[in-house]
Amino acid sequence: MGPEILNIIQSRRSVRQYAEKPIEEDKLSMILESARLAPSASNSQPWHFYVVKDAGKIKALGEKMPLGSRVVANSFIADAPIVIVATAGPIDFLHKIASAIVNKKWYYLDVAIALEHMSLTAWELGIGSCWIGWFDEKKVKSLLNIPKAEEVIAFLTLGYPKEGVEHKIKPRKKLEQIMTEI
Ligand SMILES: Cc1cc2nc3c(=O)[nH]c(=O)nc-3n(C[C@H](O)[C@H](O)[C@H](O)COP(=O)(O)O)c2cc1C
Repeated sequence: MGPEILNIIQSRRSVRQYAEKPIEEDKLSMILESARLAPSASNSQPWHFYVVKDAGKIKALGEKMPLGSRVVANSFIADAPIVIVATAGPIDFLHKIASAIVNKKWYYLDVAIALEHMSLTAWELGIGSCWIGWFDEKKVKSLLNIPKAEEVIAFLTLGYPKEGVEHKIKPRKKLEQIMTEI
């Protein structure tokens, strides 16, 4: 018997087809709480989460893709009952300097951790999610009136998995391929 968190990680998969069932407010609060508690560089908490529930805006998000309607990838976003649009910024001066010294965008890492916390918490609650990194930032910012000083990092769709369809498990590399003991 491994730790419960490992069972959640092992069974999670991206869900791109959703049941027509709304997400309960108490469950949504727990999902957001797991983002709020995520670690971040110097505890900077550079994130903001736009919890999009408006069906019209969600449909529009599914269309705000870099290559427009010529590429249909991500049109499934339109069927999600909730989409969380995660931004970072403004990034404070000291944080910018420190991360420039090591040449790493820490705020990307910070937001990514928070999003994955949400994805795993959602999964434990029976709710599926899918990360979205393919979107047109300019169009998304204008649609949601996101302040200039914020950068959209990624979205997370949320929705109960549609029943009767296969939510495929993606293969992973073997541990020997990705690990070096020194
Ligand atoms: C940073 C990031 C960006 C992603 N962007 C998209 C996306 O735009 N559209 C999509 O359908 N899936 C997207 N995904 C989901 C990945 O395709 C998925 O996590 C991967 O294929 C592994 O499958 P699994 O999540 O089911 O294990 C993204 C995942 C990450 C971490």
